[in-house]
Amino acid sequence: MLKISLRNSVAFVAFTSAAASFAQTTTPAPVASANVAASQTAPGTLTVQADQPGPVINRDIFGQFAEHLGTGIYGGVWVGKDSKIPNVRGVRSDVVGALKAIKVPVVRWPGGCFADEYHWRNGIGPASKRKVTVNSVWAGAVEPNTFGTHEFMDFAEQIGSDAYVSVNMGSGTVQEAAEWMEYMTAVPPATAAKERAANGRKAPYKVKYLGLGNEMWGCGGPNTPDEYVTKMKGFAHFVHNFNPEQAAPKVDFSLIAKDLMSGKPMDSLPSGPNSMMRIAAGPNSADPSYTEVIMKAWKTRSPIYWDINGISLHQYTWGSMPFNELATGFAEKDYATVLMQTTWMERSVKKHKEIMDKYDPKKHVALVVDEWGVWLKPKAGTEQMFLQQDQSLRDGIAAAMNINIFARHADRVRMTNIAQMVNVLQAMIVTEGPKMVLTPTYHVYKMYVPFQDATFLPITFNAGEYKVGNITLPQVDAIAAKGKDGKVWLSLTNLDPNKSAEFTAVVAGVTASSAAGEVLTAERIDSINTFETPRAVTPKPISFTAADGKLVFSLPPKSVTVVRLEP
Ligand code: AHR
Repeated sequence: MLKISLRNSVAFVAFTSAAASFAQTTTPAPVASANVAASQTAPGTLTVQADQPGPVINRDIFGQFAEHLGTGIYGGVWVGKDSKIPNVRGVRSDVVGALKAIKVPVVRWPGGCFADEYHWRNGIGPASKRKVTVNSVWAGAVEPNTFGTHEFMDFAEQIGSDAYVSVNMGSGTVQEAAEWMEYMTAVPPATAAKERAANGRKAPYKVKYLGLGNEMWGCGGPNTPDEYVTKMKGFAHFVHNFNPEQAAPKVDFSLIAKDLMSGKPMDSLPSGPNSMMRIAAGPNSADPSYTEVIMKAWKTRSPIYWDINGISLHQYTWGSMPFNELATGFAEKDYATVLMQTTWMERSVKKHKEIMDKYDPKKHVALVVDEWGVWLKPKAGTEQMFLQQDQSLRDGIAAAMNINIFARHADRVRMTNIAQMVNVLQAMIVTEGPKMVLTPTYHVYKMYVPFQDATFLPITFNAGEYKVGNITLPQVDAIAAKGKDGKVWLSLTNLDPNKSAEFTAVVAGVTASSAAGEVLTAERIDSINTFETPRAVTPKPISFTAADGKLVFSLPPKSVTVVRLEP
């Protein structure tokens, strides 16, 4: 036990230092993002260039993260086949139903810090024979290993999501990771395929993303960037996906020979539409060191030997008291602080993009924000290391602001995974026994479904400022996109908790006589949904009409609105 509690404190120190180093590398935020012109004048204006489409907002930007942490998996997703809670093969049906409704595109699993201590062989085979281990990262909880590879893949398939599997680079070996991927993806006559079939799954699994370690500067190591790159090359080279549907087209040997002889490596090997993408564990918040070293190594690599398709960024919003910021009962200045810190995401994204552009102007490598969200004081009466927190309207607003940042940088940000999916940190869903409640963040994700794989449209707006003490933010944050349904969609967030936002909008390239959709707001900035009052923060219909050729908007205070333009 002593060993466990000591290890727990070490893990906690790692997160604390991540928070501290974030605080050190950040200074007060700029008041507005690049395409926002703040002004005091009202009513404001908003212009959308529907005739100048930008990049596609990859649906994977709306991805999730599910770690073996607290009740994130056990209780939250997995209740077991014999549970009285309705389930399909052990996966709870209410959670699956709710997640299907937000069209989760991708789930990252099994961690987090847990991934670098996870040994996949513990989680296959008959449940009764599985090893019981200790989750030494998260409160020394019992890890029954009843939720393993088959159960995760089944869960992902039940919700219609792709899989993002993070292999153990911390305490595992290249061989262990390579064998895991072989087990998941091989076809007969490979022995691994037979073993998988004997465990109940004949067809190979599809693994869309492969995570190469987690926070290798912290709980996954700690490693210097150079140490990480040295290790990572082996994992990137030797961990193969054998699923025939994910196979890359064969490379002409003469191309390989040319590449090897010329000393000028080719850009990348040919890949198929379903090829697995390798994601390197990248930077902590705004710290550029990992990005710089990984991208420099990538630039001079030969893709014959190793390659990556993404580099991850972890950035949480802590408020002014890391791990202790009140989740409810906070003051307006705390609300504004969290929203102001949310804008720091844009600064970090820009910083890492600049480095990536230097080495990879063609944008082969994606920036993958595979952990982000508001990290608050744990809920009273819960195990502190289970990271359960209440979630208010404020957090839903912060989610919308973050998604808007990712959409504005969709040329480089092609996947993100909010931390975490169920019961942990900024979760979509909270469960307790058979009960389930949807958080404000869940509702934001649902409202944003039309933005999945939509085409970003340039937007400028000028709707005044929201000021509290020494914090000044644009009053409105907005994005526009052309959905796959051919319609123009707007997401409009009014940050000000006291004033409605009034402005007119001009949309070049389409006729818009009205706009209709949903608005998410609530009585207070700290309103939360509970099992007793599950609809305190829930979307309501809203619509707007045009006058003199301009759409006239009035957004309620502290709200997120998503509307579709109608001719
Ligand atoms: O999301 C919780 C933890 O935060 C993850 O396990 C770790 O990667 C990060 O520090």
